[in-house]
Formats: sequence, structure tokens, C-alpha cells
Amino acid sequence: MPSSSSPSKRPEVSVLDAAEAARVVAREIAELVRSKAARGERTVLGLATGKTPMGVYRELLRLHREQGLSFARVTTFNLDEFVGLRPDDPRSFRAWMRRELFDHVDLDPAHAHVPDGSGSPTTLDRECERYRERIRAAGGLDLQLLGIGKNGHIAFNEPGSSRDSRMRVVELAPTTRASLAAEFGALERVPIHGLTLGVADVLAARAIRLLAFGEGKRAILERALQAPIGPDVPATFLREHADVRWIADAAAAGHSR
Ligand code: PGA
Repeated sequence: MPSSSSPSKRPEVSVLDAAEAARVVAREIAELVRSKAARGERTVLGLATGKTPMGVYRELLRLHREQGLSFARVTTFNLDEFVGLRPDDPRSFRAWMRRELFDHVDLDPAHAHVPDGSGSPTTLDRECERYRERIRAAGGLDLQLLGIGKNGHIAFNEPGSSRDSRMRVVELAPTTRASLAAEFGALERVPIHGLTLGVADVLAARAIRLLAFGEGKRAILERALQAPIGPDVPATFLREHADVRWIADAAAAGHSR
């Protein structure tokens, strides 16, 4: 497959402050959920953990509380999870999602999927297959919410991940583990491996909303937008997707305002 029709074209970035970005993305999600629900269809959302999407979740909770946005016809799939943590471990991404979103809305727990990283190497391979099969059975991801790691990772697709990578067990990059040290109390306690949807799985989403906030994301966002498309900066692969919106605050976009 050719890498892209115009791989050197720099994508447009919507420059919005974090609060405005959260409102814009949450509104888009709410409109999608409401219009599909009106047709009797479920909306399938791809969700991410981390600092970046928190504002979107807060805004979705507000829309649920104040405007009756219902998640009864929503199915969610998170991008990744740590290997070696049980789903009820407070440091797991599942527990994080419960605290930030799942426990506060009318989303059926049976439709809120997070990979289960608690198994052994063989069962984890099966978990990857099972998880991808569930996404397929749900009809694929309508909209994927995404952050970007300082090393250019998307989900746990660290540098070196190929365009056609699928869900799998991966070793976390040292910078990724370092950025999680505070949450685990010490670098040595951060899991070594993660389970992640692959680059190809992420790109299979019908729409992708990539968010990046703060000065700390500026250099990598620039590389994601400009560097040659390839595994050195997995986020560059997003430039091959037909419906990605790149949203960054002025600090991450390199604008002075
Ligand atoms: P962050 O992580 O949202 O906590 O900055 C983003 C990522 O690593 O994908």
C-alpha cells in the first residue's frame, strides 16, 4: 500500500485551550451518541487514559448530569492496560477509567471494555485475539480518543512499532515507565510490559481525535506532524488516516498567544 497520497503535507492543527478542546470533543461525542441512539444504534468509542483525556471525561460527566446524555447505547474499548495488574488493582487502567468515567454514568459495565493484563503470556495472546474480536463484533470503533507520548507513542505502541502492528504484549519504553513512576511510587514498581491495540487497530477507527497539551508535548507534536511517516515516531502514521483531527493548546502547538 502506498504510504499516503500526500505524506509530506503537514496536517492542520486546531489550536484550542485544554478546556475548550475538552468541550469540543465531548460535544462531538455527545452528538454522535445521540444521533446513533436515535436510530437505535450503539456508539463504539475508543478511550484512552492519562492526563490528556481527563477534561473530555469531566465534560462528558457534566453533559450526563446536566443534559441527560445517556451512555445506555454506548460501548467502549480502552487502548491499553498494564501486564501483571489485576483489573481491580487501583493502579490499573480499568480502575482509572472507573474513577474518571465508568462509575459515574449509565454505561453498562458489560459494554465497558479494558484489556485484561492479569494473565500469563499464553493467556495474554488469547486476550489480544478475544479483545480484537469483540471490537469487530461491535462493528469497529466509531471514534478513538488519543493522546501522544513524549516519545511519539500512541497507546503503548512505542517507537519501533510498525504500521501493521496488531494488538499484542509490548515492553514499555524507559521514558514511558519514567512518566508513570509517580503513580506507582517508584520507577521499579512500574510494570515492564503492557497490552496494547496495535497501530493498525488504532488506524481502523473511523475517526480519531488526537489531543496534546502543554509545552512538554511541543517537540513531539512537531515531529508527529513533520517527520517522515514511520515507526520511529508511531504517531506519524496518523497522517495516513482520512479523519484525524489534531487538537493542541497553544503551548503544544508552538504558538505564542
Ligand atoms: P498523558 O499521556 O496524557 O498522561 O500525557 C499520553 C500518552 O502517553 O499517550
